[in-house]
Amino acid sequence: MKIDLHIEGERRQRAIQRVRERNIIIPTFAQMKDPTLIPNKIKESLKPVGLWDVNPRNLFRITWKNEPVPQGGLYHGVNFIELPSSLTGTEARVIALVGKWFPTGAHKVGAAFGCLVPRLVTGQFDPTTQKAVWPSTGNYCRGGAYDSALLACESIAILPEGMSRERFDWLAKIAGEVIATPGSESNVKEIFDKCWELRNSGEDLMIFNQFDEFGNYLWHYEVTGHAMEEVLQKVMGPRDTYRGMASATGSAGTIASGDYMKQLFPGSKIVASEALQCPTLLENGFGAHRIEGIGDKHVPWIHNTKNTDIVVAIDDEAVVNLSRLFNEPAGRSYLVKKGVPEGIVSQLDLMGFSGISNVLSAIKMAKYYELGENDIVLTVLTDSMELYGSRLREMHAEFGEYSETDAAAHFARYLKGQSTDNMLELNYTDRRRVHNLKYFTWVEQQGKTYEEIQDQWYERDYFSDVQKQVPEIDALIEEFNHDVGLVK
Ligand SMILES: Cc1ncc(COP(=O)(O)O)c(C=O)c1O
Repeated sequence: MKIDLHIEGERRQRAIQRVRERNIIIPTFAQMKDPTLIPNKIKESLKPVGLWDVNPRNLFRITWKNEPVPQGGLYHGVNFIELPSSLTGTEARVIALVGKWFPTGAHKVGAAFGCLVPRLVTGQFDPTTQKAVWPSTGNYCRGGAYDSALLACESIAILPEGMSRERFDWLAKIAGEVIATPGSESNVKEIFDKCWELRNSGEDLMIFNQFDEFGNYLWHYEVTGHAMEEVLQKVMGPRDTYRGMASATGSAGTIASGDYMKQLFPGSKIVASEALQCPTLLENGFGAHRIEGIGDKHVPWIHNTKNTDIVVAIDDEAVVNLSRLFNEPAGRSYLVKKGVPEGIVSQLDLMGFSGISNVLSAIKMAKYYELGENDIVLTVLTDSMELYGSRLREMHAEFGEYSETDAAAHFARYLKGQSTDNMLELNYTDRRRVHNLKYFTWVEQQGKTYEEIQDQWYERDYFSDVQKQVPEIDALIEEFNHDVGLVK
């Protein structure tokens, strides 16, 4: 399988013209991995620009390495946090990459970039005539609408009506159009239905479906994968071993970083997590849940199921209660009393709901494999509590003041008491069972063919062919920038 990179000459010319008029320069994957490659002139121009500003130079902030400031920051190392065992209840070292410091407050701007930019620089997507459609459970359409605005493309964001208020309020200002589909987090089918409606409407659009776009897979494989590698280089002592990573599979983009890491550390593991209230991977299940961003009731087309070692389902009750423990004053002071360093407690708002779920998945992984103090497990905090303030207020209104008794109960039950329940280590047949589930979404409903689904399982190079495409895409970006003529 390869991302289609054929050139459409005339459309590409129109894209070049548009990009030149708007003073846009597009970063390469190499620059997103390593911002030291970004020319000083561009760095200078970033100084007066806020992290979330709709300014084309913020394309150069699609990186894990932004300085953690809302205004005028440049670059440093990868943003990450190591969680102590006083919090996690495991001796293993649990380390999480921090997504809050991407523009929009979530790393999905990178996934969206990975989908849009190859189409733009080849001329397959024409920003002068087409609209970019971003179907998502939240952050991907925020990222897509934002990237579109930076790249002078019109956009349509699609997300379920039940997602948090913050997402809608912000999108209303950035996207050309916002479409709310019925249901909540796990109603992905309704999003796909809306896409078909749009396709059939005759409007000139291109749908960037994160669930089957390999640009999403590739961005995480390359950029998030390298960020993980760098974190390890920084923190790993001579006696330490990297044991693997845990990630929810919303679109199964983030988990592609595990493929990269497994190539570097062949003994490492990949843990895919989902909500217990919608255990699709674990038991072909379905249901509604509150871990915003991780969708489900289907297996994304881009999920490399052959490489998944464990599936784990996380109770959304644990996630919402821990969000209170981590953010309510009584929760924080209880954690300090229990010996969690204040410097860590004050940063617990770096975890959005799916981040908490990912950390719990990492803890369960550590317990399952009986990991100790020299074992490292990585995970990812896609977004932060910045996007869930309204949820905290809703819980406050519904359940009242958060007390020390609540804190003690939640700490004991959901952190110290976290067990290895709702986990399944996958053997070959289990992996194929998860892969086979793709049939019902992708072949029956979404137009993939029987041959494609067979190839995905039986063709040895299916995913590795995509992984090799970064140099080709970077060359196309450089050529495009050159033809635009703004980079000297
Ligand atoms: C908050 C949040 N967490 C997790 C995910 C899942 O990441 P991925 O889609 O890369 O699997 C998403 C995806 O949109 C998200 O918005």
